Amino acid sequence: MLEKFQAVVIGGGPGGYVCAIRLAQLGLKTACVESRGTLGGTCLNVGCIPSKSLLNLSNEFHKVKNLANKGIEVGDIKLNLNKMMKSKDKAVTILTKGVEFLFKKNKVTYFKGYGSFKSANEILIRDDQNKETIIQTDKAVIATGSVPASLSGVDIDEKNIISSTGALKLEKVPKKMIVIGGGYIGLEMGSVWSRLGSEVQVIEFLDHITPGMDKEISTEFMKILKKQGIKFNMQNKVEKIKKHKTGVIVSTVDKGGNKNDFDCDVVLIAVGRKPNTEGLNLQAVGIHLDERNRVKTDKNFKTNKQNIYAIGDVIVGPMLAHKAEDEGIAVAENIAGQSGHVNYDTIPGVIYTTPEVATVGKTEEQLKETKTDYKIGKFSFMANSRAKAIDDTEGFVKILADTKTDKVLGAHIIGPHAGELIAEIGIAMEFGASSEDIARTCHAHPTFSEAVKEAALSVDKRAIHS
Ligand code: NAI
Repeated sequence: MLEKFQAVVIGGGPGGYVCAIRLAQLGLKTACVESRGTLGGTCLNVGCIPSKSLLNLSNEFHKVKNLANKGIEVGDIKLNLNKMMKSKDKAVTILTKGVEFLFKKNKVTYFKGYGSFKSANEILIRDDQNKETIIQTDKAVIATGSVPASLSGVDIDEKNIISSTGALKLEKVPKKMIVIGGGYIGLEMGSVWSRLGSEVQVIEFLDHITPGMDKEISTEFMKILKKQGIKFNMQNKVEKIKKHKTGVIVSTVDKGGNKNDFDCDVVLIAVGRKPNTEGLNLQAVGIHLDERNRVKTDKNFKTNKQNIYAIGDVIVGPMLAHKAEDEGIAVAENIAGQSGHVNYDTIPGVIYTTPEVATVGKTEEQLKETKTDYKIGKFSFMANSRAKAIDDTEGFVKILADTKTDKVLGAHIIGPHAGELIAEIGIAMEFGASSEDIARTCHAHPTFSEAVKEAALSVDKRAIHS
């Protein structure tokens, strides 16, 4: 007799594990199949969490080195990369074990192994000893996430030619690092290694970094990163990557047709991620994929098969852990007969560099494209008293509101704690708030959040401190 479940989630990342817990909370007999050996997916194991640990530690290192300028003299500052990596690994272990505990607490059955479809109602699980188990299920959720994309003809060895995974476990600080791609991963990991002492150069295909972000913010962001010592080679297309005895040569062609060779110890390929659908045997059950190999779903996350759903990086939309989590909850509620949904207009995006960059809702470029009339409110951290007090004044808050209704349409922040500040605007937008609603909400003094209030005041040209 095969063990039978009401729902099986394939993939134990932020989308999958959250979905499994919610399904169990709703009373369904639920299993989650995960092949990595630990729960938490890319985010907890080789993504958000370890990168945030290294971003924090490298930032501390950089800050301590510069404390003498502020009257705090701590003597010789040395980097112990091995210890730093152990500290990062500890954070990962604690969090992945924490998810395992949550599974036990919520009575989610955890299968360690590679899951694939034997039929629409049967999941085949192969463990690392090649032992096969088949389980039956009424409903299945595909939450298999994404894997790093590479460039054609380039083999990632995770030593000299690395993906984000290799960038989280280098054994020594490379003297020269080339980052291909000026997106989230390239700029976060480039910042880490630059602060730890690498000469970092970014090669980007477009004329601006962080495509899709509000242009004014992305321009300011690049200016700040340049000041921090990161070099940018824009409008350069990578032609070839060739390993030699001690490192790698990256050959590019720029927009003028000039050929450039960049010699480095390590090259990080950060040109995006692709949906992870291989090995699931989706053809056998006839699941439809789109032109970019993402699983096609309807607005309820249902595939073309009645009992199979998909969420997270493997479907359309931004490849972000919190988007996957929200979809995990919504699909679980739909499966349980409720009406879960996700508001894609208020999904924030955060880049955890210093300063942080955070964004929610529409950019100016998008509003222009849809011919929406909008007003802009802006406030610089230079005029924020808390930022001034601690000498952390780079960046600004920008709020975009509808000209007629004053409804907040988007907000973009570059500056201290931008990733936390954006949440206030996300909530405001969920409630359909106007910029006046934010402006008339009392914000504690002295806090960075006052910059949000002042930006909201500035929408109607009545900011007090600028
Ligand atoms: P990305 O899509 O953010 O950026 C890739 C960049 O590479 C783009 O600027 C693109 O123009 C450039 N590019 C592509 N091909 C190129 C080529 N041949 N030569 C030069 N440049 C080229 O992708 P990224 O940074 O790899 O991140 C992958 C995913 O992971 C993203 O969807 C991102 O949202 C997510 N992520 C989110 C983080 C966060 O929320 N803080 C952190 C890390 C990743």
